[in-house]
Amino acid sequence: MRINVNNKEHAVDLSGNPSLLDVLREQLDLTGSKYGCGEGACGACKVLINGIPTPSCITPTVSVQGKKIVTIEGLENEGKLHPVQEVFLEEDVFQCGYCASGMIITATALIENNPNLTKQEIQDAMQGNICRCCTYPDITKAIAKAAEQ
Ligand code: FES
Ligand code: FES
Repeated sequence: MRINVNNKEHAVDLSGNPSLLDVLREQLDLTGSKYGCGEGACGACKVLINGIPTPSCITPTVSVQGKKIVTIEGLENEGKLHPVQEVFLEEDVFQCGYCASGMIITATALIENNPNLTKQEIQDAMQGNICRCCTYPDITKAIAKAAEQ
């Protein structure tokens, strides 16, 4: 089957009905999306599917045919980081960084849909993303700053 990832078509092997996360990491070498819970609960594996942040660990690859997938690697443009990535770096948000790609993917979609976010709206929208290092206050601050910009 062919799937569209980061604006490129890729031929992938669906033997064993792999999850989208497995295909991204093991067949396409896109390792920015991380495996955390494997149950759709932590957000570490989130990618955009037709613009919607989605846990790729519970998404069968067969279900994404004809859809547009964007991973953390696909956010940069011609070698330049996405503005949301820039702000997260400037603010030195993360500790271990394991949650970073899922956080940034979710934040990017959130800001694109509503740049006038309240703190509560940010916190509500980020509930599906867990940070084991508890950097939530810095994450919320960075999202507010990125939205402002
Ligand atoms: S690894 Fe996919 S949501 Fe946790
Ligand atoms: S920075 Fe460690 S899990 Fe978020």
